[in-house]
Amino acid sequence: MNPDLRKEIEAHMALYPDSRSATLPALQAAQRVHGWCSPEAIEEVADVMGVTPASLEAVATFYDMLETKPVGRHSVYVCTNISCSLCGADELFSAIQAAVGEDQEFNVRPFECLGACDIAPMASVDGVYVGPLSLQDVPRLLDDVRAGRPVLPEKQLAKRACADVETNE
Ligand code: FES
Repeated sequence: MNPDLRKEIEAHMALYPDSRSATLPALQAAQRVHGWCSPEAIEEVADVMGVTPASLEAVATFYDMLETKPVGRHSVYVCTNISCSLCGADELFSAIQAAVGEDQEFNVRPFECLGACDIAPMASVDGVYVGPLSLQDVPRLLDDVRAGRPVLPEKQLAKRACADVETNE
């Protein structure tokens, strides 16, 4: 087993009175290392946590962010919930799917509200929130990911000004 992964899982377990509370971060760590919650990844987490693989599988199959099948290493979660949908999210999702095509590096999927309705229609790209997105943004979004560049920097939620002036500075 990857010693760094073992250490990370043990560090998460040490944070809680009941070490089973570390199940989600432990599975996320294993997913990051293995690319998905594979049977091998689950076995490793179970071994470190002293729980059954079946109990971890039950958790992994419940949570959307945990992948129980092999997926592309770049996640593009397109919000298709109501605010984004009203602003064209369905067309956006179809356009991204079409542009990605058979590229196995991408995991493109629709998602329920990602909590950033003010930048609808939006997507989470490898965990970075971007929006409002137009169909014209799709080629550059994918080019940025492929080139390892920050994705659409001018549309990143993290770069938007907020009401706290000091925070903006
Ligand atoms: S509906 Fe898309 S972020 Fe809320």
